[in-house]
Amino acid sequence: MVCLGNICRSPMAEGLMRAVLLEKGIAAEIDSAGTSGHHRGEAPDRRAIRCMQGHGIDISMLRARQFVADDFSRFDHIFVMDLANQRDIMRMPGARQHPSLRLMLSGTHGHDAEVPDPWYGGQEGFEDVFLMLKEACEHWAAEINKPR
Ligand code: 4NP
Repeated sequence: MVCLGNICRSPMAEGLMRAVLLEKGIAAEIDSAGTSGHHRGEAPDRRAIRCMQGHGIDISMLRARQFVADDFSRFDHIFVMDLANQRDIMRMPGARQHPSLRLMLSGTHGHDAEVPDPWYGGQEGFEDVFLMLKEACEHWAAEINKPR
């Protein structure tokens, strides 16, 4: 799960995907990162923690890190939150070879749909993001786990 700062959208997506997969009994390694290293080492934004807590998911122990090229070989699926994240990731070595790099909302909200950055708004923006991410996580959990 990749966003800009790794303190709002992607840690929420990480916590949600982990919860969705746990409920479905699917084992997977889930992680998140930011294209920027600006908030490296920080806990998620307090509004993100509060929002998730309200839905029974604790993300307070997560710490921000920057996305690195090595993540392309570590993870089978990479989800980016917006088009700027996608552009930044696509510039990194190894991006074009990755088999599954997509926009988080592309399966549920439209081909180019973005998770809006809730950083500059209030608590309600985080609730909007939560609902979008929940729908997306449930979609991808079912889609990726389909027998082929
Ligand atoms: P995120 O949100 O990318 O969802 O973690 C942001 C966090 C911090 C900033 C911007 C977006 N910032 O400008 O510091």
